[in-house]
Amino acid sequence: MSLPSPTSENRAVVTGASSGIGTALAADLAARGYSLILVARRGEVLTELAQRLTLAHGITAEVRAVDLAERTARGALVEELSARNIAILCNNAGIATFGAVADLDLGYERAQMELNAVAVHDLTLAVLPGMIARGSGGILISGSAAGNMPIPNNATYAASKAFANTFSESLRGELKGSGVHVTLLAPGPVRTEAPDPTEASIVDRMVPDFMWVTSESTAKQSIDALARNKMRVVPGLISKGMSVAGQYGPRSFTAPIAGAFYKKLGG
Ligand SMILES: NC(=O)c1ccc[n+]([C@@H]2O[C@H](COP(=O)([O-])OP(=O)(O)OC[C@H]3O[C@@H](n4cnc5c(N)ncnc54)[C@H](OP(=O)(O)O)[C@@H]3O)[C@@H](O)[C@H]2O)c1
Repeated sequence: MSLPSPTSENRAVVTGASSGIGTALAADLAARGYSLILVARRGEVLTELAQRLTLAHGITAEVRAVDLAERTARGALVEELSARNIAILCNNAGIATFGAVADLDLGYERAQMELNAVAVHDLTLAVLPGMIARGSGGILISGSAAGNMPIPNNATYAASKAFANTFSESLRGELKGSGVHVTLLAPGPVRTEAPDPTEASIVDRMVPDFMWVTSESTAKQSIDALARNKMRVVPGLISKGMSVAGQYGPRSFTAPIAGAFYKKLGG
């Protein structure tokens, strides 16, 4: 089975479409002919993207400016999506914090859990019954290589992405033979924009240019993988290295190394 063909009624939903990998996913899906529902908080950025993709590809692009970390606002979107013909859902919006969790803002840590984990669960469960009934659909979940291992100084993010990784791969097993594809995108660092040399992070400074993967290639690899119902996409060499170390390295060994590295990111 492949993904549902784009029609005038069905939609591909992309959360976090106002930036980075989400913008690239929306552009890739539009180029494949899918009409879109673009979700993020910054409605003006989404509206500009919707106009650009409509003009370039002759698709329809609807904008939903929603704070997905906020339960009431998210609930309205969940209700809408559960009643519509959603061909593809890209659960991509996500945020990260760095530093010791006790020192971080509690409200923002909670919002991170809501966005990275609970919203992924809610939106997936909203579209799933329709996809199963139609016998076709695609769900892409943006987890992370960080979700494969314990990471001190990145605790909420790593744990929320552990949820995303495990939920995606578990769900895929349940849906075998249903016609509904589920793929996990579990990248390490993806360069979503050229870094400002004066503000480059330690990751920007340490990773040579040729080892970076772009949002555009990540998006293409992800949608190609979703079409083939691949379990997991890990784009680029660094991501693959992190993935192997995180999944197969002893946790007592990888946790302090990752923790020391992420402490520098927090500082
Ligand atoms: N880039 C990487 O190196 C990397 C590596 C591993 C995993 N990932 C994962 O891949 C996904 C995309 O990463 P990215 O680097 O492309 O992210 P990004 O450029 O920082 O964009 C994040 C997106 O999420 C949206 N967002 C943030 N808070 C939101 C909220 N409360 N409600 C709704 N939307 C919200 C943002 O839009 P608004 O600000 O307009 O709301 C934006 O569109 C994330 O889940 C991330 O964890 C990224």
